[in-house]
Amino acid sequence: MSETSFTPRVFSGIQPSGNLHLGNYLGALKRFVDWQARDVESIYCMVDLHAITVWQDPSDLKKATRELCAGFIAAGLDPEKSILINQSQVPEHAQLAWIFNCVARMGWMQRMTQWKDKAGKNQQNASLGLLAYPALMAADILVYHATHVPVGEDQKQHLELTRDIAIKFNHDYGVNFFPETEPVIEGAATRVMSLRDGAKKMSKSDPSDASRINLTDDADTIAKKIRKAKTDPEGLPSDAKGLEDRPEARNLVNIYAALSEQSVDQVLADVGGRQFSEFKPMLADLAVAKMAPITTEMARLMENQDEIDKILARGAERAREITAPILRRTYEIVGMVGPSEI
Ligand code: TYM
Repeated sequence: MSETSFTPRVFSGIQPSGNLHLGNYLGALKRFVDWQARDVESIYCMVDLHAITVWQDPSDLKKATRELCAGFIAAGLDPEKSILINQSQVPEHAQLAWIFNCVARMGWMQRMTQWKDKAGKNQQNASLGLLAYPALMAADILVYHATHVPVGEDQKQHLELTRDIAIKFNHDYGVNFFPETEPVIEGAATRVMSLRDGAKKMSKSDPSDASRINLTDDADTIAKKIRKAKTDPEGLPSDAKGLEDRPEARNLVNIYAALSEQSVDQVLADVGGRQFSEFKPMLADLAVAKMAPITTEMARLMENQDEIDKILARGAERAREITAPILRRTYEIVGMVGPSEI
């Protein structure tokens, strides 16, 4: 294992804590599929250990994990090409996380905006896991020596912390063992906003279902949510500059651009000057055309859960070929006495 050069490797994860929505799809999943085409070794993870940092009903968690795996495959990830795993089946994630709990500083964790948002005013009552969440995330990435991590913009701070942990570990132990991972936050839809409020991101925890498009929504529901999406009274501008200070309009155009794989300027060259009454049905048709096949395929895959479980078991086996030697070497660096020393 070379300690100075790192071969490109992609890692990313999604929490199995409810329905996948359009933000997850455009900000993450669709981009995983694009990465797969680049032929770089890739690992995509259902982060069940992260999900339980807030309460999850056990049977819902099982269902959501399998559904997420079905979603990965339905969206185009090929379990032969990419390694698909659930986090708890690859124990080296949690083992490395413990080491990182001892590298990261309390102050780093308490500064995380996600911790502040999720713990709210009642921090004393939040789980310890919720505070340590980003150290587990760093372990997810670094236990593969992953170099590239495609995520939406809301994960940027966690990825900066991942670099801080790698740098501090390397410095403290005088090694160059962990890479400084690159966050890959690119494209028109790295921050998809709520359909009801252009200042809030689309999220599974928003109490209003009308704020998001779920991958499980049928065509009528998608069309209705887009028709009702908040906009302003102006028509569409003819270039991206005309979307400044118009968050709701910008959001819908960004979604259209990402779904149709065009730039925002290309989209506006076509639709500039039109009213939202005309643009919204175009967007609804496009969203249905792109998402309905995924939804249908997900439902089909969910009928054969044994197959999903086999894919996850095989993924874990392949993953451990990478993670076991990296963890073993980490233990040596840290000074744990192992079998070779007995
Ligand atoms: P999670 O499950 O909240 O979200 C999964 C992915 O979806 C992206 N995303 C969005 N992108 C654009 N617009 C939105 N409205 C939107 N909402 C969510 C997220 O940025 C993310 O890429 N902590 C991570 C999971 C994780 C992980 C990792 C990611 C655990 N370990 C290691 C990368 C590498 C999370 O909670 O994502």
